[in-house]
Amino acid sequence: MTKRFYVTTPIYYINDVPHLGSAYTTIAADVMTRYRRLRGYDSLFVTGTDEHGLKIQRAAEARGLTPQALADDVSATFRDTWPQLSCEADDFIRTSSARHQRGAQEIWSRIAAAGDIYLGHYEGLYCVGCEAYFTEKELKQPGNLCPIHNTAVEAVKEESYFFRLSKYGDRLLAFYDAHPHFVQPEGRRNEVLSFVKGGLQDLSVSRTTFRWGVPVPGNDQHVMWVWIDALSNYWTALQEPADHAKYWPASVHIVGKDILRFHAVYWPAFLMAAGFADDQLPGQVLAHGFLTYGGQKMSKSLRNTVSPMALAQAVSPQVGVDTVRYCLMRSISFGYDGDFSIQDVLNRYATDLGNTLGNLLNRVHPFAPPALEAADYGPLEQELRSAMEKAAKSAAEAFDACSPTRALEAIWAGLSAANVYVDKAAPWTARKQDPGRVGTIVTTLAEVLEAASVMVAPVMPAVAAGMREQLGLEPLTAELDRDQWPLTMGCRPPGTGLKPGEPLFPRLDKARAAALLTEFASPAKADETPATADPPPSKPTVAFDDFAKLDLRVGVVVAAEKVKKKDRLLALQVDVGDAEPRHLVAGIAGSYQPEAIVGRRVVVLCNLEPRKFGKGLVSEGMLLAVNTADGVTLLAVDGEPPVGSAVS
Ligand code: ME8
Ligand code: MG
Repeated sequence: MTKRFYVTTPIYYINDVPHLGSAYTTIAADVMTRYRRLRGYDSLFVTGTDEHGLKIQRAAEARGLTPQALADDVSATFRDTWPQLSCEADDFIRTSSARHQRGAQEIWSRIAAAGDIYLGHYEGLYCVGCEAYFTEKELKQPGNLCPIHNTAVEAVKEESYFFRLSKYGDRLLAFYDAHPHFVQPEGRRNEVLSFVKGGLQDLSVSRTTFRWGVPVPGNDQHVMWVWIDALSNYWTALQEPADHAKYWPASVHIVGKDILRFHAVYWPAFLMAAGFADDQLPGQVLAHGFLTYGGQKMSKSLRNTVSPMALAQAVSPQVGVDTVRYCLMRSISFGYDGDFSIQDVLNRYATDLGNTLGNLLNRVHPFAPPALEAADYGPLEQELRSAMEKAAKSAAEAFDACSPTRALEAIWAGLSAANVYVDKAAPWTARKQDPGRVGTIVTTLAEVLEAASVMVAPVMPAVAAGMREQLGLEPLTAELDRDQWPLTMGCRPPGTGLKPGEPLFPRLDKARAAALLTEFASPAKADETPATADPPPSKPTVAFDDFAKLDLRVGVVVAAEKVKKKDRLLALQVDVGDAEPRHLVAGIAGSYQPEAIVGRRVVVLCNLEPRKFGKGLVSEGMLLAVNTADGVTLLAVDGEPPVGSAVS
C-alpha cells in the first residue's frame, strides 16, 4: 500500500510578513515533503494563514482597513512568498475562507455534542499578542508582563464557552505514554508532560467582545477563540477537496517551541473530544527552536527580521535560495535555538557548497568523454561507495526523524570522502601512467555525484537539477511507490555523457562579500556601543596545570524550571555529553525565563564539588556567566561544537 505523509506548518498570523523565522519552519516542512516524495510516499504539505482574532482586528483598524481586506492582502503575500523560496505547498488554507469556517464549526459541534463545551464566565488576564490567557504566576512581575511579548496583559471578564480540558489529562498522559515520539525533541516532551501532570484547567474557548472570528454554532453572540479556530485548520484543509481526506491524520506538525502547548496538549484534547480515536490523532508534533539574530528572537515586534528573499538574491540570483535553505537547515540545529549570521552563510557558501560540493563536480569535468567506460572498482572505489551508502543510510534515518541538520552532516561526510578519494586516486597522474584507470575513477565519481544529487534535492532542488544536468542525467521526478534514495550505489550505464557547465557556486568576490557582511550585519553588532565595566580586582597568576584541572565543557540545556520559593534560581538539566544530563542550579532566574533557555549551548564547569541549595536541591557543576548591575548573562558558544566538547 502506498505510504502517506502529511506535514503542516503553523498557519501564520497576518500581522507580520514572512521573515527568516517563519521561512525556517516552512522550508523544513518543504524539505520533509520533498524527501518523502523521493522515497515514493504520497505526500501532502499544507500551510496557510491564521486571520482571525483581536490582534488582527486591531492591526486592521490601525491601518484603516477592514479585517478581511487586511487578511486578503497579507495572506496573498504569504502565499506568493513561499514558492519564491522553493517551498511548494499543495494547499494553502485561510481561516477566513468559507471551507475552513465550515470545518471549524463542524469540530466545535462535535465537541459540543459530546458534552465537553459549556457556558460560563471568564475573568482573567489576556495577552493579545499570544491570543491566550495567563495566570499571574506565569507572568513577569512586576507589572503582569507577558513572558513572550514583555507587554502588560489585559484584564478581561465576559461570558464565555469553556472546553472541558480538565477531563482529558489522564487520556493525554496515556496517549503520550503509548506514543513516546509524539513530541520531539525529547526535552520538549518533558515540558509537555510536566505541564499536563501539573493539572489541566478548563479552557475559555469563545469571545464576545469582537466579531472577527468564526461564529459559534448556535450562538452567534460568540466567536470561537482563535486557537480552536486555528488548530482546526489541519483537519479542515483536508475536507475540501474531498480526496484529501485520505491524508488524515497528520504525520508531523512542525511548529516553533512558542506554540508547542497548543499543538501537543490542546489540539489532541480537542480531537479526542470530537470523537477521534487515538490512532486518528496526529503522529508527531515537532517543535523547533528560535532563530535569533544578534542573540534575540527574530520577530517583527523586535524589528530584527531579515527578508529571506532579499538575502537569497544578494547571495546569488541562481543558487541564493538553495544556499539560504541549506544554511538554515544546516546551521540551526533542528530543535535548538540558533543564531543567524551572515558570516556563517558566507563561510558555508565558500566551503560546504563551493569547495566540497561544487568543486567535486568540477573535478570530473577535465576527464570527460573518454572516461565513461564500464568501471572496474578497486579497493579505493569500494571504500568510497560504501562511505556513500553509509551516508545515504544515516541521512535517511535523520530525515525520517525530521532532523535535516543531521541528514546534511551525513551527506557532507560522504562528499568529503569523495574529495579524499579524488586526491588518493589522482586521475591527473593516472592519465599519464595508467590511462585505463581514468575511466573507473571518473565513472565512480559520476556515480557518487548522482547519489549526491538525489540526497541534496530535498534541501537544494535547484542545485540538484544543475548537478544532474552536468552529469547528463534526467531531472528527478517523484513517483508514488518508487524509492529513489541511493541506499545502494548505482552503476552508471556506459556511454552516459557528461555536460560540463558553469561552476554551481561561483566565488563571491571580496567586495560582494564585504557588502553582504554590512547589509546583513546582526542588529546587536551594528547598533550597540559596548558598555564598560570596572575590571575585577587582580588575582594571583595560576599555573597552566592548575587551569587544566578544570573540566570545562560545552553543554546544552535540555530542561529548565523555576525553583519554588527561590526567585533567583533555575533548576536546569544540562547535557554535557555524559550518559545522563547534569542537574545544575543557577542564579539566573532574574534574567532568563526557563522556556527561553532550553536548547541553548552553555559552558559548564563539570568538576566543581557539588553544592547544596536546600530541600534536596544539589548543583552538580556550574554554568559560566557574567554578573553585571543589569543582571546575569550566560557565556555563549559560537557555532555548534558537539555537546561535551572540552573548553580550553
Ligand atoms: O503562532 N524562529 O503564528 P505566528 C523560528 N497563528 N521560528 C519562528 C520564528 C523565529 N524567530 N518566528 C516565527 C502563530 N517562527 C499562530 C499559529 S497554528 C494552528 C497557529 C515560526 O505567525 C515558528 O514556527 O506567530 C513559530 O511557531 C511560528 O512561526 C509562529 O507564527
Ligand atoms: Mg507569534
